[in-house]
Amino acid sequence: MASFAPSKILVIGGTGIIGKYITASLLRAKPAFDQVILFTSANTVATKGELLEKWKSEGLSIIVGNFESDSDVAAAFAGVDTVISALGRSVLHHQIRLLQLAEDSGTVQWFLPSEFGTDIEHNDKSPNEPPHQNKLKVRKYVREHIKRLKVTYVVTGPYFDMWVNTQPGVEITGGFVPDKKEAYLIDDGNTKVGFCTMWDVGKFVVATLRNPQESFGKALKVQSFVVTPNEVLAEYEKQTGSEWKVTRTSLTDIRNLEAKLLAEGKPASISLRRIWAEGGTLYAKNDNELLGLGPEDLDSLEVGVKKALAGGWKKDTF
Ligand SMILES: NC(=O)c1ccc[n+]([C@@H]2O[C@H](COP(=O)([O-])OP(=O)(O)OC[C@H]3O[C@@H](n4cnc5c(N)ncnc54)[C@H](OP(=O)(O)O)[C@@H]3O)[C@@H](O)[C@H]2O)c1
Repeated sequence: MASFAPSKILVIGGTGIIGKYITASLLRAKPAFDQVILFTSANTVATKGELLEKWKSEGLSIIVGNFESDSDVAAAFAGVDTVISALGRSVLHHQIRLLQLAEDSGTVQWFLPSEFGTDIEHNDKSPNEPPHQNKLKVRKYVREHIKRLKVTYVVTGPYFDMWVNTQPGVEITGGFVPDKKEAYLIDDGNTKVGFCTMWDVGKFVVATLRNPQESFGKALKVQSFVVTPNEVLAEYEKQTGSEWKVTRTSLTDIRNLEAKLLAEGKPASISLRRIWAEGGTLYAKNDNELLGLGPEDLDSLEVGVKKALAGGWKKDTF
């Protein structure tokens, strides 16, 4: 494996929320990878035709199949050396079978499971965090059963582009409302958070593929910038030239709301926001340098806020 360099790369979930940034970044990487292949569902082909046509004109190959079908997946893996999964949260458990099929394929050498988020092994509380459970099962499977394949997890922390938005009904869990110049911060807003912008996630995935030996077997911690929510607020105030109305909610109140929502079976986002506010994205040192990326290569807080004020990630085109 000393001279291994990924050349035939298969992306699963590559038209999803973060998958689009990853696929587009792989297609436009310089120097180009020999082949970028999307394994996708018939439903995506029917609903995202325009995007797929554009990407085909940029060199994307497309295999249509069902990731729950062993024969479809085995056929897609034939001849592929690197697999990147960007499958969504609700289907993460299927990756165990995908890893098994990749291990058995004989050709796949490297697998990047769908992580692209919070560090699920950050501290002694991590094993019990509700949103981490499916990703932890994937890592356990890899530790116990994967012998031949190399595996790398790209741990990006929260996407700044999404973190800045409040969630309707639970605004107090954090975010900014540009139309009203309102900010919702947890506690005193002075605990730093390590963010990635969504385009930088694509950049970090490409950089990972360029550095196989440094990346094999690791959970790489990558970050565009590390700032406090108060610094984000100050940047919004600077760029809009006005003072914003701030609502601060204690971590205790957030934890109480989280317990209530979890008891009602509500989704994981509040737990993640609480983890981020507790310092769950912070490290003595991240792996940016290991991948050869410095601040000049990455988005800044200023760029992130400017984009959010211009309408945010939903306006991105690929
Ligand atoms: N750091 C953050 O702030 C953050 C935010 C969001 C997500 N994430 C992480 O990013 C990763 C990808 O999440 P995402 O939100 O980008 O994924 P997503 O858009 O929900 O789904 C990605 C792809 O997975 C396939 N898929 C998803 N749900 C499916 C279902 N129920 N049935 C069949 N196929 C399904 C589809 O691909 P095909 O149709 O092509 O098969 C879809 O395009 C996850 O690990 C998630 O935890 C992190």
